Amino acid sequence: MTPAEATIRSVERADLLAVLRIERASFDDPWPYGAFERLIDEPAFLVAEHDGAIIGFLVADVTPNAGRDIGHVKDLAVSPESRGRGLGRALLRAGLVRLRTAGATVAKLEVREGNDPARSLYATEGFEPVRRVERYYEDGEDALVLAVDLGEWVHGG
Ligand SMILES: CC(C)(COP(=O)(O)OP(=O)(O)OC[C@H]1O[C@@H](n2cnc3c(N)ncnc32)[C@H](O)[C@@H]1OP(=O)(O)O)[C@@H](O)C(=O)NCCC(=O)NCCS
Repeated sequence: MTPAEATIRSVERADLLAVLRIERASFDDPWPYGAFERLIDEPAFLVAEHDGAIIGFLVADVTPNAGRDIGHVKDLAVSPESRGRGLGRALLRAGLVRLRTAGATVAKLEVREGNDPARSLYATEGFEPVRRVERYYEDGEDALVLAVDLGEWVHGG
């Protein structure tokens, strides 16, 4: 399966259990079902589907901020057996396009300092470190806050 064979589309309520399964397979401190349910109408809550199965998702929203709307990538995961094939990057690019279309001028996110795959993905999409938040995660690990200027970001359209 390549990213071109997967469909990236807005989430639907019927996808949420599959999203939750991927979330639980991906994180030690997974979001609960209700957290996804609350965000279901966000324009940048996307899923990747292949052969009728949900194999990845991205959740992002836009917050008004004194005339400079900020996009926030809140969650991104690909099912373990579908990783390493370009889907995470395809979801991120589609999400950034949605955020920009929704009016965001910048996108930011938090990533675990030790999450090398995710950090490499974000760095190669133009995200740059803004600051470190000490002990951001429950297990005491620091978060790095990364941001990309969506006016300059050109990938994916
Ligand atoms: C991060 C994640 C979404 C990437 O998804 P993916 O589909 O495997 O990623 P892609 O195949 O699109 O790879 C995109 C880039 O990510 C980086 N990457 C992916 N897997 C990697 C690995 N095992 N080691 C190092 N870098 C890796 C590379 O920069 C890669 O680009 P390249 O293929 O040009 O080298 C996936 O690993 C995942 O779901 N991880 C668990 C959840 C998570 O950590 N989410 C991010 C929270 S901030």
